[in-house]
Amino acid sequence: MPYFLSPRVIFGKGAMKRLASELEGKGDKAVVITDQILKDKCGDLVEALSTVGYDVKIWDGVEADPTLDVALRASRFLLDINPQWVIGFGGGSAIDTAKAAWVLYERPDLADGDLTKSILPRAVLNLRRKARLAAVPTTSGTGADVTWVAVLTDRAMNRKIVFAHNDIVPDLSVLETSLTLELPKGLTASTGLDVIAHAIDGYTSKQRSDFSDGPCLQAARMAMEWLPKVCHDGSNYEAREKMLNAATIAGLGFGNSNTGLSHALGHSAGAVFHMGHGRAIGIALSYSLDYISTKPPYEGVLDPLSRLADIARFVGIDDASPREAVDALIAKIRAIQKEIGEPASLKEAGITEDRMKAELDTLVQVAEKDPNMFTTPCECKGDALRELFERMWRG
Ligand SMILES: [Fe+2]
Repeated sequence: MPYFLSPRVIFGKGAMKRLASELEGKGDKAVVITDQILKDKCGDLVEALSTVGYDVKIWDGVEADPTLDVALRASRFLLDINPQWVIGFGGGSAIDTAKAAWVLYERPDLADGDLTKSILPRAVLNLRRKARLAAVPTTSGTGADVTWVAVLTDRAMNRKIVFAHNDIVPDLSVLETSLTLELPKGLTASTGLDVIAHAIDGYTSKQRSDFSDGPCLQAARMAMEWLPKVCHDGSNYEAREKMLNAATIAGLGFGNSNTGLSHALGHSAGAVFHMGHGRAIGIALSYSLDYISTKPPYEGVLDPLSRLADIARFVGIDDASPREAVDALIAKIRAIQKEIGEPASLKEAGITEDRMKAELDTLVQVAEKDPNMFTTPCECKGDALRELFERMWRG
């Protein structure tokens, strides 16, 4: 992609206080969009903004896997309050809800039209006439705080609605490490594998660029080093900070190049078997890397084998040939999965053989239609995809 998108990212000690300095003099009303559990963690944010003159209201209706209906309700709240800042506070669901609600607050007229067609890259949206958008992630995984996409489910029509536009990148991302200290181990592990997948998919994407490569490499190295440490000791502040930073750096990488095969496979397995995003992607990752490093790339696309060998060397693997280095990289990812207690196959994740056989055709169909297939560096469809899912199940 011939551009590099990024918010202003506030990180390190005292991030919340520096958010207040950023907002000082830029308005007097802010709305925080979050869920009922995280609402109790908004105290420092509300206090920091109050000290610089903001009246802060909290909308706590966020649900996992956010629906269009939830985003519309949040946007109506914004229309009532009329804030100059909208702040998404939470994991990917809260930030995606905030992004969508903010767009519909800026452009309520769009809610009456076909939202599957109106908020796409080439649309003229003219946002930021009422408010700006900030994101405060409380998990270390999605990178939603720096990316240009929000995904909603339209339950009435049983379809996904994707808001995808450069202008949806938040104005500010605020990385406050203390908010991640109490994340449960399972969530820390699965979302951390998602970070590794974002970095590697982004580096091998058909749409990679000189600008996306750097963040992808750095995020891969940080996440592979710090994920086992943070899973061993969730109270390790340095490890929490490194993973929070790695998630956002990976977001800056894949947000400017897109993800690839691990996400096409993981989205399909996650949807069919109702599995969390990080876990499904974590299972898919090693198989997807084995696949892309053994198949010929599309014409004009950099060879995934040599790209993966770059990553292997950057994370400290110095085996002689590219093939050996990539095999060692895949083995390292599998070793991390084992160390942090995440399943290495669909079978290990509890999917029975009968269920797998019954769903195999659907898995292939859903993966073939996934947008991440467009950025995967080599062809993967039909029987090849079927075989890949079978390997993902078997382990
Ligand atoms: Fe992901």
